[in-house]
Amino acid sequence: MHIMEKSKILIQLDTDAQPSVFDRVVAIDSGVDQLFSYGNVKPEQVEALVHGAIFTRSPADLKNTAIFIGGSDITIGEQILGIIRGIFKNTGMSVSVMLDSNGSNTTAAAAVRAAVRHTDVASSHALILGGTGPVGQRAALILARTGAHVRIGSRQIPRAEAICQAIRSKIPGANVEAVSTASSADGPKVLEGRDLVIAAGAAGAVLLPQKIRATNQSLRVAIDLNAVPPVGIEGIEIFDKAVTRDNTVCYGAIGVGGTKMKIHRAAIAKMFESNDQILDAEEIYDIALRL
Ligand SMILES: NC(=O)c1ccc[n+]([C@@H]2O[C@H](COP(=O)([O-])OP(=O)(O)OC[C@H]3O[C@@H](n4cnc5c(N)ncnc54)[C@H](OP(=O)(O)O)[C@@H]3O)[C@@H](O)[C@H]2O)c1
Repeated sequence: MHIMEKSKILIQLDTDAQPSVFDRVVAIDSGVDQLFSYGNVKPEQVEALVHGAIFTRSPADLKNTAIFIGGSDITIGEQILGIIRGIFKNTGMSVSVMLDSNGSNTTAAAAVRAAVRHTDVASSHALILGGTGPVGQRAALILARTGAHVRIGSRQIPRAEAICQAIRSKIPGANVEAVSTASSADGPKVLEGRDLVIAAGAAGAVLLPQKIRATNQSLRVAIDLNAVPPVGIEGIEIFDKAVTRDNTVCYGAIGVGGTKMKIHRAAIAKMFESNDQILDAEEIYDIALRL
């Protein structure tokens, strides 16, 4: 008898009203055969959805079913991942899961991956501008895990402090520091002594003006993730990919975007290798390092 390999099913749990088209296209391009997309997913609905995933196929076939958590809210995404972990623990059954709310983990991993090509990130003094958004938080987390000293910038310092707290709860002793970026007068001070800056601010917002960069001597690598003009770091072009400008290696959003896409596709494909992987910031960064 011919035993057919089960089709690869990806269950997309999106916390936004409409399941992300972007994430759906990447899923198909990563070799998924069947994509079940659920929008507006609330934490209280997750148990029934996950039971449907784990109680249908035989244990040997469960590696062909996986769950992707997306949507713009990384806090709810993390909450859903926590619920899923609990269900796996209670039932002793699992499928692989990936968390990438707002492209946060894949984009942050791509940014840090770019930095690794030019500097020893573990000993770097980094500044994350827009560090309270989904992408910035994840970039800070990944860098902190390497041992880097990470300043997290926000226009409201309590927001940056909350992110530092969240990182310290995951990485005891993490070298993270909240800094205010409320006014342009803050710029030179927060940039002082930093060799790496990642700008993960909202689309269309300038976070690092040229005149502040011009006063700084320490910066070696600058990565801007905003593709919508005006860019986040003035002077960087969106297509920059390891372009040296004023003694600093620069990356723009599109320059990082190709790596982000590769990481995203590799992470989806990796889930179908076994039924027990949880891909969050750290695991996705590991995938990025191996590409
Ligand atoms: N290249 C890629 O492949 C890729 C993929 C995904 C996302 N992205 C880009 O990555 C960036 C970060 O994404 P995200 O979703 O994490 O961003 P986000 O949540 O929209 O914004 C990040 C932070 O920017 C700050 N901010 C908002 N409006 C601002 C303004 N007018 N001026 C200064 N700061 C402002 C806010 O921090 P505070 O309020 O705390 O100051 C916010 O938490 C975006 O530009 C996004 O388009 C790129």
